[in-house]
Amino acid sequence: MAKYPPEPFKIKMVETIKLLDRKERINKIREAKYNLFNLKAEDIYIDLLTDSGTSAMSDNQWAGIMRGDESYAGSRSYQHFEDSIKDIFGFKFVIPTHQGRAAEALLFSKILKPGDYVPSNIHFDTTEGNIRNNGGIPVNCVIDEGLDPSTNYPFKGNIDLNKLQQLVDEVGIEKIPIAMITITNNSGGGQPVSLENIIEVSKFWKKYNVPLFIDACRYAENSYFIKQREKIYHNWSIKEIAKKIFSYADGATMSAKKDALVNIGGFVTLNDDELAKKITSNLIITEGFRTYGGLSGRDLEAVAIGLQEGLNEDYLKYRIEQTAYLGESLLEQGIPIVQPPGGHAIYLDARNILPDIPQEHFPAQALAVALYIEGGIRGVEIGGLMFAYKDEKTGDMVYPKLELVRLAIPRRVYTRAHLDYVVGIARKVMEKRESLKGYRITYQPRLLRHFTVELEEI
Ligand SMILES: Cc1ncc(COP(=O)(O)O)c(C=O)c1O
Repeated sequence: MAKYPPEPFKIKMVETIKLLDRKERINKIREAKYNLFNLKAEDIYIDLLTDSGTSAMSDNQWAGIMRGDESYAGSRSYQHFEDSIKDIFGFKFVIPTHQGRAAEALLFSKILKPGDYVPSNIHFDTTEGNIRNNGGIPVNCVIDEGLDPSTNYPFKGNIDLNKLQQLVDEVGIEKIPIAMITITNNSGGGQPVSLENIIEVSKFWKKYNVPLFIDACRYAENSYFIKQREKIYHNWSIKEIAKKIFSYADGATMSAKKDALVNIGGFVTLNDDELAKKITSNLIITEGFRTYGGLSGRDLEAVAIGLQEGLNEDYLKYRIEQTAYLGESLLEQGIPIVQPPGGHAIYLDARNILPDIPQEHFPAQALAVALYIEGGIRGVEIGGLMFAYKDEKTGDMVYPKLELVRLAIPRRVYTRAHLDYVVGIARKVMEKRESLKGYRITYQPRLLRHFTVELEEI
């Protein structure tokens, strides 16, 4: 039987949650046009939509919030924020933003020209959206194991260097002004990247003089996996591993809403003076002055503290084992997931669960809707709805390899009983899977359609 780790904290504050009855849930999801982003949070019982910005902050972070210095320029809280980031990431410049996508938008707007390519393992949706919005073309170069939900490989987030070489040979190095790597690889199942791979990828891009940026949202979870799975780092501290990771990069974008354990915040950090200056002038127009970005002093303070707390090994052990508990409990019930369990989320393999729903009818969305109707659980589709795009040359829709429902676990929020409830509901959905239907789109925007798409049942 799956093992649940005892929490390395006790609970000081609670928030009431409530389960609507089945008829109400059916009405709510119909009114939401079968888009789970359109539901009101109060109509959800267990909210696993995202681990982003949904953490419970610690007593220390709340104390920091009270100490926040709200000076417009040069606040003490910015200093604390900068010191904390430099201590871990080690880059020269620290540029605060209100969240991760703002960091991406600032970076890509200053580095991309139309027609440029940006390789990564798998870009997250906002990263992809920001690259496209600046005329760029995102390219995913994850190893083949990372695209096969059933292989049990320890570092499924790794980049395939042959795929990088193929891209360079095909498009020419002058078309690649920046390369990225996402740790952990969210869109590929929250799977980690090994330090060995980070070092190889860094050497690869150094050879061509292409700067490597790390999408660092879950760098602490990735560092914990490295400690567990890469023998030579068993005796290293998590912070030492994190520092080594960043020493192989030229910069990083970060949504602090993940491993910095806060509800809002982000940053870009980098070494390049010229690029930092360009980003900073753009920041001042769009986000705010360079010592607060889009954040208040108290937010900066919470990030500064959370970044260090997020490296605590007892916390990370609990965090990773809690996620594994959910994954292993689902497997025990015969429910297919991306294996092995990722860091922040469990990904249900919707293609395998609903083989009769074709990809153009969004099987993963059908599964996500069914989980809400059955038990008030909100996950998120990571499949055709999120990632399919029109090939400009052929006019055909190109669908991603994976059709997943991500059940992301907010940090320090849900208990074992909540997770057991999720497993019970998933089992009920499995039992009635043959009766589930696909969906068709009735409205969609140009970019990031899954956030506002409207659907109807087929
Ligand atoms: C890997 C990755 N990159 C970037 C982002 C964007 O961060 P934010 O939601 O703070 O804009 C996310 C958010 O989930 C993410 O998971």
